[in-house]
Amino acid sequence: MGRAIAESFLRLGDAVVLSDVGAPLASHPDYEVAPPDHLSQAAAELDALGPVLPVACDVTDEEQVEALFDAAVAEHGRVDVLVNCAGLAIGLTPVTELTLRDWQVNIDVMATGAFLCAREAARRMVPRGAGRIITIASQAGKTGMPLLAAYSASKFAVIGLTQSMAAELGEHGVTVNAICPGTIDTPLLAVQGGVYQTFSGAAGRSEDEYRRRLARQIPARRFGVPGDVAAAAVYLASEGASFVTGEALNVTGGQEMH
Ligand SMILES: NC(=O)c1ccc[n+]([C@@H]2O[C@H](COP(=O)([O-])OP(=O)(O)OC[C@H]3O[C@@H](n4cnc5c(N)ncnc54)[C@H](O)[C@@H]3O)[C@@H](O)[C@H]2O)c1
Repeated sequence: MGRAIAESFLRLGDAVVLSDVGAPLASHPDYEVAPPDHLSQAAAELDALGPVLPVACDVTDEEQVEALFDAAVAEHGRVDVLVNCAGLAIGLTPVTELTLRDWQVNIDVMATGAFLCAREAARRMVPRGAGRIITIASQAGKTGMPLLAAYSASKFAVIGLTQSMAAELGEHGVTVNAICPGTIDTPLLAVQGGVYQTFSGAAGRSEDEYRRRLARQIPARRFGVPGDVAAAAVYLASEGASFVTGEALNVTGGQEMH
């Protein structure tokens, strides 16, 4: 999703700083975060569209996040738009089996990571009196679901963060919004222990059968694609959205309606 969002902004003529974690997570070394060359490869592929600066950063690390924003300002002089997009699928288990470690990594990456990036962005946007902060939350940030306690809690957290920051930063010309994607076909769902494997297993179905049934339950009768989310990010960053703040915009094909 982050890559598709970067591509959309590049196509509008913007300069982009693209970031991803540069090494396996210390707390979960077996979890497939993006491989080490993923970021440089993505940046090289996007480079033809416009300026892309790849900067490796673990969003849970305060110093690395500060360095990421310093690098962006050093390269481009300012930050107009932040899109928080880091995420993972760990600990999709019944809550009685959810370990503290799995709970913590969800909160660290998706809630604390979003906070650290949003804070660094705000520190640079407020003095300029302009900026857009966009966080990719989830439909799981609006409605809880079985096996998603930690993930869902982290996504509810960023919607609260979004609303509080929107209330604070409106007078400084900074809008703060969340996007709540539904089922978007990305590696996050397909990863070992992710949504496809876990929910098809719980239903006693093959992953293919699970996916077909799920698509039939979505009013739009399809899964989303990263471009659906990128289009929402472009809208929230646009001049036309200057009066939209504190919003959590569903991009779910009708799966979530509040
Ligand atoms: N795919 C979906 O259906 C869906 C639905 C709702 C919300 N989301 C959210 O959308 C966002 C993007 O997810 P995606 O589907 O593109 O998944 P993805 O796995 O393709 O991308 C997530 C990226 O986050 C990176 N990441 C993980 N930990 C990090 C860390 N500590 N620091 C920096 N980067 C880190 C991963 O390396 C990966 O490249 C996530 O926040 C996810 O929770 C996804």
